[in-house]
Formats: sequence, C-alpha cells, structure tokens
Amino acid sequence: MEKILVEPRDGTVASCLSNLLQTSADDALASGDTFKVGLSGGSLVQLLAQCLPNITTDWSKWYFFFCDERVVPFDSNDSTYGEYKLKLIGKIPVTEEQFIKIDPDLSAEDAAKDYIKKMSVFFPPDRVPCFDVLLLGLGPDGHTCSLFPDHKLLNEASLWVCPINDSPKPPPSRITLTLPVINNAKKCIFAITGSGKAEIVKRVLQDRENLPAARVQPHNGELYWILDEGAAKF
Ligand code: 6PG
Repeated sequence: MEKILVEPRDGTVASCLSNLLQTSADDALASGDTFKVGLSGGSLVQLLAQCLPNITTDWSKWYFFFCDERVVPFDSNDSTYGEYKLKLIGKIPVTEEQFIKIDPDLSAEDAAKDYIKKMSVFFPPDRVPCFDVLLLGLGPDGHTCSLFPDHKLLNEASLWVCPINDSPKPPPSRITLTLPVINNAKKCIFAITGSGKAEIVKRVLQDRENLPAARVQPHNGELYWILDEGAAKF
C-alpha cells in the first residue's frame, strides 16, 4: 500500500512523521519487546531531532539501525551515526548502545559482514529481517540508502547488507541495506522537503522511472511518502 501525504492538509512533515512513528512504535511495542528502526542520513537527522522528542514511548525498547552508513570514523563530519549522536542523543532518553553502529575501523566489506552479525542478534538469521520502520531519504539522482542508479547492488538478492566502495556520492566507502531487506519492512517512510526535490520526486512518483527509490515497494508492508509543499510542487 502506497500513501502520499502532502502538507498542509496533513500538517507539517515533522508532525506527520511524529504521528506515524508514534503509532508504529505503539503497535510494535503492544505485540513485541522492541521497536526496530532503520535511519538514513542527510536532512532526516535534523527532522528526527525535531520529531522524536514529541513521541511518548518506552524509549528503552527502541533500537536504531542504519539504512546505510559511511565507513568513516564516528567523529568525522561524514559519519551518519556521528550526526545522530550530536543532534539526537540528549534530546530523547536513549543510550549510544541503542544505536547498532558499523565498526568504522573495518573495510567496507568487513564492516558489512560485521553489521549482518550485529543484526542477527535482533533478527532470526534464517529469515529476511523485518524492520518495524525504515526512514528513507531521496537523493537528487533518485538514490536511497546507498543504492545508486544503475549500480550492481540493486540486483543483490540474498545478502542483508552490502559494501560499496564506488559510491558516486562521497565518501566512496559505505555499507547499505539491500532491496530484499528494505522491501520486507513493515513500513518504509520517505520524508522529503524542499522545492529542490520536486523534480526527482516527480520522476519517482509521477513518471515512475525505474530509479532506486522507486524500487522501494514493501511486499507486505506500507510505503509512505511525506512531502512538504515544495517537494510536492510538480
Ligand atoms: C548519504 C545519505 C543519503 C541521503 C540522501 C538525501 O549517506 O549520503 O544517507 O543517502 O539520505 O542523499 O539527502 P538529503 O535528505 O540531505 O537531501
């Protein structure tokens, strides 16, 4: 099921996202022990720093994974975890241990293998992981996570997490969730703001070009696109 929510009808992007995360966490925690969320970087970090403090929940049950991560030290400006640490921890009562981080001292190949091991603590190893929510960004070329247009990783059919050393967007070394994992999530949520995104949103949602972001089509889950007026102006 695909839902496209555009403000102002549904309020601001931040309030839409807060409401969606509140109900997703309530549902997950009513039937299970943990709420497992995949984070992306970019403008989403600031948006979540705005949204998450509005949520009433048992924060000790939340676990934050990374939809993709740059293989750089945590204190680098390029580290997505570093950004969350700076902008989020302290605003909500979560600990660094609730973030399932890459090992920045490894190569991208080994960091991806290590990340699969870390994920296996939370997800049965013989089944495709099922995240409660994946929070996704959209690059101007249609990339999401670190899945770039025409890249061979788009064809990955079995691994949960893959390395990439030739990312067209710097830095070049990253790890990323693969499409089978992304499309097995209960909810995939794109939260997109600004008129600078209108053209690529049009290519994905209206023209239905075969771009990485358009290949996010959860099999049994829900797909949300939350757009502000600027991003929806096409
Ligand atoms: C990365 C980011 C990236 C981001 C999109 C959208 O590692 O480069 O995670 O994939 O999500 O490029 O970025 P903005 O939200 O900043 O436009």
